[in-house]
Amino acid sequence: MTQANLHAYSPRRVYSVTPCDGALAFQVRECVIELGPAEATTYAQLAEWLPTVRSVDELCTAVGMDEAKLTRFAAHLGAAGLLYKKADLPAELSGEAFHKAFSEILPSWLSEAFSHPYWQKMMSGLGSKRLYTGWLIELYHYTRNANRHMPLSCAHSREKAIKGLHAKHYAEEWDHYHFFAKALTALGYTRAAIAESVPLPMTLALSNFMRQAAREDILAYSICSAVLEGTTTDRSSYNPFYEACAKLYDVPQEAIRPIYAHLDLDVQYQHSDLFHEVLCKVPSISAEHASRVLDYGHQLVEHIWLWTENIDNYYSNPKSALPRRPFDPFLE
Ligand SMILES: [Fe+2]
Repeated sequence: MTQANLHAYSPRRVYSVTPCDGALAFQVRECVIELGPAEATTYAQLAEWLPTVRSVDELCTAVGMDEAKLTRFAAHLGAAGLLYKKADLPAELSGEAFHKAFSEILPSWLSEAFSHPYWQKMMSGLGSKRLYTGWLIELYHYTRNANRHMPLSCAHSREKAIKGLHAKHYAEEWDHYHFFAKALTALGYTRAAIAESVPLPMTLALSNFMRQAAREDILAYSICSAVLEGTTTDRSSYNPFYEACAKLYDVPQEAIRPIYAHLDLDVQYQHSDLFHEVLCKVPSISAEHASRVLDYGHQLVEHIWLWTENIDNYYSNPKSALPRRPFDPFLE
């Protein structure tokens, strides 16, 4: 065996590791793989070694296996789904095939994006009306910030057909922040106070990331938009949160109804189909390009998690201004 055999593999993304009857259960995108304690330790050492320049001998000594046995173990992990062979990736794929791959990945991305403890806290009664209000204010800013990144996506689209799809999306989306303003007035805030408030740094970072994607690569922008739209396609996934907030934190129905109206409108516009429509205009995409686009999508997932973290931290603190006020030299 040569070093190239082991280096032919790359580790796949593991979403969670949980103990299970003395073994460890590794959740990858499409399945759960159980490894015994000794196998799990060897896998961890191998996965840690793969991106390094350390020698095969060093790894063999660390795991206590010769190279042939370790290579067979890597093949076993590859068949189970914990590693993949880089050579097995296609050099090119069609836009439609790329969309199919994305659709298979999206559910695991969404569960990662919404794995922040904020959601469990809110659903279990340990949240507050203040945390709900903070979430709404930041959603207001995030939605209003569509005006910072959607026009850029149109301007930077080189293909006329894709430019047209994004222009239509912008025309349908640009004023949706009014739904959140309406919900916030039902919670006692004036429209002026909401409009003059300042978004949290991560709310701004989210739209800045979209701006960067729009400038660099319209497919990268489109996948980010698809991840965000993917959060609003199914009423059953968002209704329980709003219903729990109404019941647990005395949130009036008038502060929820506009949110439902907005979600229903987005479903009616079929915005979650936009990425598919865009990719139907792309005859072929290289593996390298597809990988870069997917990386943008996953970075967006991480932005959503960090955004939730910022909302939870800031609005949990009773001393934090609500809404956040812009810098005022007289006040300071
Ligand atoms: Fe919308």
